[in-house]
Amino acid sequence: MDGRGLVRSVGIFGTVQGLRAARSAWRQRRTDARALPARGAERARVPGPVSGAEPLPGGGIVRFARSELRIRVAVGGAVFWGWDGAEPEPSYALDGTPPEPDPRAELEPDKNGGWRVVSERVRVEVSRHGAVEIRTPGGVVLRRDLPPRWWEPVRGGPARWVQRTEVPADARFFGLGGRASGPRLRDGTYRLWNTDPRGSFGPDDDPLYITMPVQLVVADAGTHLAFHDNSWDGRVTLREGEEGEGSGHDRPGTSEVRMDGGPLRCWVVVGTPARVLRGWTQLTGAPALPPSWALGPQHARWGFGSEREVRRIVAGYRERELPLSAVHLDIDHYDAHQVFTVDRERFPDLPGMAKDLRDDGVRLVSIVDPAVKAEPGTAVYDSGAAADAFVRDGRGREVRGVVWPGECVYPDFTDPRAREWWGGLYEERLAQGFSGVWHDMNEPVSFTPFGDMTLPRSARHALEGRGGDHREAHNVYGLAMARAGHEGLRRLRPEERPFLFSRSGWAGMQRYGGTWSGDVTTGWPGLRASLSLVLGLGLCGVPYSGPDVGGFDGSPSPELYLRWFQLGAQLPLFRTHAAIDAGRREPWEFGPEVLAHARAALAERERLRPYFVTLAHLARLTGAPYARPMWWGCPEDRALRDCEDAFLLGDALLVAPVLEGGTDRRAVRLPRGRWYDTATGQAYDGPGQVLVDAPLSRIPVLARGGSVIPVRGADGGMELEVWAPAAGRTGGGLVVPDMGDGWERAEVERYRTRLVDGRVVVKQIKGDGSAPPRWRVRVRGLGAAA
Ligand code: GLC
Repeated sequence: MDGRGLVRSVGIFGTVQGLRAARSAWRQRRTDARALPARGAERARVPGPVSGAEPLPGGGIVRFARSELRIRVAVGGAVFWGWDGAEPEPSYALDGTPPEPDPRAELEPDKNGGWRVVSERVRVEVSRHGAVEIRTPGGVVLRRDLPPRWWEPVRGGPARWVQRTEVPADARFFGLGGRASGPRLRDGTYRLWNTDPRGSFGPDDDPLYITMPVQLVVADAGTHLAFHDNSWDGRVTLREGEEGEGSGHDRPGTSEVRMDGGPLRCWVVVGTPARVLRGWTQLTGAPALPPSWALGPQHARWGFGSEREVRRIVAGYRERELPLSAVHLDIDHYDAHQVFTVDRERFPDLPGMAKDLRDDGVRLVSIVDPAVKAEPGTAVYDSGAAADAFVRDGRGREVRGVVWPGECVYPDFTDPRAREWWGGLYEERLAQGFSGVWHDMNEPVSFTPFGDMTLPRSARHALEGRGGDHREAHNVYGLAMARAGHEGLRRLRPEERPFLFSRSGWAGMQRYGGTWSGDVTTGWPGLRASLSLVLGLGLCGVPYSGPDVGGFDGSPSPELYLRWFQLGAQLPLFRTHAAIDAGRREPWEFGPEVLAHARAALAERERLRPYFVTLAHLARLTGAPYARPMWWGCPEDRALRDCEDAFLLGDALLVAPVLEGGTDRRAVRLPRGRWYDTATGQAYDGPGQVLVDAPLSRIPVLARGGSVIPVRGADGGMELEVWAPAAGRTGGGLVVPDMGDGWERAEVERYRTRLVDGRVVVKQIKGDGSAPPRWRVRVRGLGAAA
């Protein structure tokens, strides 16, 4: 095992567990060696020259000497292409059936012997040797996928493939799931294999729990997203381009995707960043809307250890009048770490405690691990075995691994029957009084001292009836578990929206819930990594996430804790959490000064709750993440593309966290337009860079001139905070009032703001007309000099 992991797991669980893990690792190696023999000799193949074409709705099939390419432009402009007969389905990423082909998009020959499909939003050009170019309707190249290459084992088996792509020299890459070193993905190789990094991780650790073959590419020519719909193990090598300084000799940026098997197919969505995310969530599903309470401050701990301690902590928040929306119970509340059980000695009356907490406005959230202790006679194991729900090997034996409870089996979430059985188990959680679930260890993890900390690659999976092995199922395991949990909760408690977030996942996971950072290391680099993850995941369609505030391990300095807390308060999931052997994370544990400033951050979060509710609804309706990279509204601003230390919270706010110690000022790069420092009212005009105060008491937050921000007023009612537009400019914003935690349809209110004779006028737009706003308005920024 790598030192860190071994020392920690032995420290926490003793040598017996360590020995079990070693045995299990050897078993895994033996099983794979037997079931997946070496690939042996391989034959390479490329498509070869074009030989013909056949039009079909939305495009058609272009034939080559040694392969064929299906092209389909969908209604809405998303492009699908697939080699070797690959079609959009089956897919774990897509939400239901793929969108209809665009009837107006037709395949036609071009004058170079290739073929093209022209549609309203995008042009696809296929060269004679099988390069696929995606161009804007005006003809500017966004992406050039070169002819792929396959390697087929002579003795049969899955073909490996590689595809190189060129993008404009000025392009920047983002995405690929949750990456700690971003959000801008620098030159390097990024693996596509969901991985528990063993212990805590920092910016240099890659891959992590959520990988996705989703690239977001931002260039002067435009923004696009490319998704290689393939869940196998793979690697993406990125290299940014270089511009030839007017010499005309640009070196394009390149991306090389290498997969160990599975279909070679891709979706490309082009447009503005907002359009791209809208198109992406149309394909893969609207993000689940968290209940409103999940937008409030939450606190977790591995190792509360008892009901008494949980009550003590909640009382600590109450006595200090600190808002708290939810408390999360970790594996230590289980009986011997077994999922769907309760340690009755330490937690004698969970439903009673849950009720008391709920009366105080605090919800309980439960961790849920997928692995089930392999122990006949226990209810969960027996019912799973009866449902034939556990992953088996090629010889039909249950695959065993080692997790917190000891030797475990793993539900096969790619089997609809297993999902159904698993979803039913959440009844026990609801009966214990839990309001939401936190899925963990679902990469899935099996502790091993060496090699991959997961199931053997030869482990069999149902894959919705198609059948296959862990090489294909691994990356979608967490996604399918989220589906099981989400569907189970919907069946069991149909009147409330489920609250679920999951450590691992894949493209489309937002349909079922959100995620969190996982075990981010305590330290300034970990703080940076936290922001990188949230922004990168948001661009992959997963808008609800946040870090373990304070870091997972060790003890943050009071200053680091506070800066983390101030950032966390501006992210969708705002939760303090730490490991069993880590220091405290309650805001009062770091001295009176930190407590005072943390209190201010909590108060501001509560004041902004209506804005977070609005952002949650807008994420659901449009796919736009709450936390967006700085270039979101102006991807053509190159300086913003490289700006990684600040973000936009919705349309209205710019948050500039403090990511280093010992500082009380920081530079902030502004997008174009007017921006106000919300603390001082000072106005600035972008684009450009300004230096702003960042005292320990707060991190800089700027508001866009003209914006409309729904906030909670002093009396608890909703108000609109309106920031004055610059002279001669207008502004506005969308507001979605809280409709509770059920399924009532959201109503989007539209506001316009104008400056008339030095006064700010706010109107609600209704149909063709306008009306005075429904809510009290507070104007800010008037009279502030730029
Ligand atoms: C994993 C989780 C962490 C949790 C711990 C114990 O490390 O990422 O959040 O506290 O397991 O369940």
